[in-house]
Amino acid sequence: MNNPFRIGVLGSGQGSNFVAIADAITAGQIPAEVAVVLSDVESAGILQHARDRKIPAQFIPPGQFRTKLDENAERAFVTALQNAQVDLIVLAGFMRVLKGDFLRAFEGRIVNIHPSLLPCFPGLQSWKQALDHGVKIAGCTVHFVDAGVDSGAIIGQSAVPVLDHDTPETLHQRIHAAEHELFPRCVAALARKEISVAGRRVIWKKA
Ligand code: GRF
Repeated sequence: MNNPFRIGVLGSGQGSNFVAIADAITAGQIPAEVAVVLSDVESAGILQHARDRKIPAQFIPPGQFRTKLDENAERAFVTALQNAQVDLIVLAGFMRVLKGDFLRAFEGRIVNIHPSLLPCFPGLQSWKQALDHGVKIAGCTVHFVDAGVDSGAIIGQSAVPVLDHDTPETLHQRIHAAEHELFPRCVAALARKEISVAGRRVIWKKA
């Protein structure tokens, strides 16, 4: 591939969404390559999945805060992503909020997956929020990242039913399975440059 579209992936957890994206690339469904995988958690499964695939993977200590990166860490993440010459940053279970300098360095080029039909249930444990609220339809959202929490323009959504016997775990599993189909589909459209943005509206040029 000449000048392949380069993706940087950030994650803090097991990395099943990363695996779905990496598998879709291998299967030829996304015209891209994962240039680097970064994590704020040294033992995160996502790093091992990357190493298993011979993709550069790096733990970067997040610093003193619990929910964001400190200044040094932010600089280290930005530098690693710039060195890897990424075109797109994919947040696949990255558990820290990204702030000003990071967002400015990659404006309009950061996407996230969230386990709810936004704007419902932003923040943590959205599947539990959905169950507690009693909604009958839950799901997941891929969106651009802006300065808010789970508030950027929506690229794609996928709905799943909430069943009467659901527990937080069973609903979470159903949402997770939907994520593994939605996220690669959205990343493929971004890599193919089939996505345009007009304010909050994200238009898919090809269905
Ligand atoms: C997903 O549920 C995603 O919606 C949320 O974090 C989780 C990451 O899961 N942002 P995994 O590490 O990709 O398995």
